[in-house]
Amino acid sequence: MSSTSFDVAVEVRKVWKLYKIGKTFYPALRGVSLRVPKGTFVIILGPSGSGKSTLMHIMGALDTPTRGVVYLAGKEVSTLSDPERAKLRRDYVGFVFQQFYLIPRLTALENVELPMIAKGLPRRIRHRRAKKLLAMVGLEGKENHKPMELSGGEQQRVAIARALANNPELVLADEPTGNLDSVTSESIMNLMLDMNERMKKTIVVVTHNPEQVKYSHYVVKIRDGKIISVGEGERKPPYPPEMLLPS
Ligand SMILES: Nc1ncnc2c1ncn2[C@@H]1O[C@H](COP(=O)(O)OP(=O)(O)O)[C@@H](O)[C@H]1O
Ligand SMILES: [Mg+2]
Repeated sequence: MSSTSFDVAVEVRKVWKLYKIGKTFYPALRGVSLRVPKGTFVIILGPSGSGKSTLMHIMGALDTPTRGVVYLAGKEVSTLSDPERAKLRRDYVGFVFQQFYLIPRLTALENVELPMIAKGLPRRIRHRRAKKLLAMVGLEGKENHKPMELSGGEQQRVAIARALANNPELVLADEPTGNLDSVTSESIMNLMLDMNERMKKTIVVVTHNPEQVKYSHYVVKIRDGKIISVGEGERKPPYPPEMLLPS
């Protein structure tokens, strides 16, 4: 790999998203272009209502843009059939949300196993891998706890283990610490940092908290559905920030 090019985990080009409200259309995204180099940690920073969640959903192929193009793992998402899109999402992307979205009646272990069931892995292999992932996020011994029997931080750790279940290249996190106190937030962000540094995952974290810039290589500022700047985070970025903006 030369210093002037990189492998791209996800790219959006001139993406617009219009939401219909009554008879009018409200533009949540207004021509957003961004490419995320593989192996980097990107923070998307913006106030509430700036379009962060909308952008994250589109980057992860959970939602489709009104206009513009999305490349995930080098594939143009709009050209895929629904099953192909679901498969790409399942194999390539791990999602982490502010609300955790764990299944209440399943144990931590079973929650982590779910994406592997979707993939058709045999029970024994699922079990072993889910246990390993829970240990990795610091939850050894809590495998049989239900979400209600875990703290918020522990629930988010389960959600992170679940995001890693199918060994994705890309982890997309939407305000992952939004429901956590500052000490717990720090530990969750350190876990995300670890996933980037040691596991070599590409990480995109959407947040309104400027303090989280310290974990990232790049900071993308978004305002009113538009990217207003792309700059360096507090970790040394492997490529100049301008390279994240497709020409
Ligand atoms: N399903 C929807 N229908 C209508 N408007 C929406 C919908 N989802 C989001 N919006 C609007 O789009 C804008 C961006 O929302 P969102 O992406 O959730 O922002 P953020 O995550 O930065 O808070 C907001 O003004 C929001 O009210
Ligand atoms: Mg949001």
